[in-house]
Amino acid sequence: MKKHNKIKLFNRATPIEYAEKISRQLRGPDIYIKRDDLTDSALGGNKVRKLEYILADALEKDCDTIITTGGPQSNHARITAGVCAQLGLRCILLLSGKKKEVLEGNLLLDKIFGAEIIYAGTWDFKVIHKKMETLKKHLDNHGRRAYTVPLGGASGLGTLGYAECFSEIVKQEKELKIKFSRIFTANGSGGTQAGLEIGKAVEHSAKEIIGISVLFKKEKAAVYVKQEIAEGFKVLGMDPGKEIKINIDDNYIGEGYAIPDESTLNAIKLAGSSEGIVLDPVYTGKAFAGLIDYIKCGKIGNKEKVLFIHTGGYPGIVNMTEKHKKYFEGL
Ligand SMILES: Cc1ncc(COP(=O)(O)O)c(C=O)c1O
Repeated sequence: MKKHNKIKLFNRATPIEYAEKISRQLRGPDIYIKRDDLTDSALGGNKVRKLEYILADALEKDCDTIITTGGPQSNHARITAGVCAQLGLRCILLLSGKKKEVLEGNLLLDKIFGAEIIYAGTWDFKVIHKKMETLKKHLDNHGRRAYTVPLGGASGLGTLGYAECFSEIVKQEKELKIKFSRIFTANGSGGTQAGLEIGKAVEHSAKEIIGISVLFKKEKAAVYVKQEIAEGFKVLGMDPGKEIKINIDDNYIGEGYAIPDESTLNAIKLAGSSEGIVLDPVYTGKAFAGLIDYIKCGKIGNKEKVLFIHTGGYPGIVNMTEKHKKYFEGL
């Protein structure tokens, strides 16, 4: 297995906490939460693990400017901006859509972290990725050394962060003397699930990984996850040997990406009021709503122990619409 350098952006390992009150309330399996929302840099979240490998590559290549993309409320863009500030790198965010007049949530944090923001005027990320390459060439021709990071940090190197996370979980299981039968995670660009699947293969584990899609229908989401698994194995110089079966559930997208429904808001309320844990309305709230529904439908045995990966996204909570915020008044 080929080793890749990484920069250390957080103190490992992130804690695994027993959500005792939620488990009791739901009268199902024991639920544990891996606190990847506590990955230190730039308010934390899953993108920090990916950037440890991606930005190490950028630094090895002696780059001084990082270009990436996302929506105006992208957690990935915010964390990249924050980590670039930490490392003294110039950060250019080519954000989708038209200029936003109101700076709030992640967009405000991008500015605070000193990122330069360009609006791409489109939501077509294929077009935006081409624009990023053009910008890189332009900067390189003017004496800079630019490095492009794809949407969501979804690359072979990025997957290594979550392959490593899987091994971290296996180690923590031994320390805590518990065994998880399943792992739940939110699935957006697919890199987190892809990384976990690679880790599972490397560890020869039988755990089930369930990716709750918050964006794509499962067929499309599976294409991305498989592509990233292949890229991840390639950068590791490994051959997976057999086809990796993946499990993606698209039943919890609701009305669409970044639109929380009642079950999402109830999940946020339950985690907040029972455990003091803040889930977000775009990713973790939906994924946790999925886990709750699995339990209520009896899809998980009462004797099982399941692990939910909290992938962060906290700024989404302060950026909810007034209508969604008001929902909590009635709860
Ligand atoms: C908070 C949060 N959770 C989960 C995800 C999904 O991760 P992935 O894009 O690796 O599927 C993202 C992606 O942006 C995210 O910001």
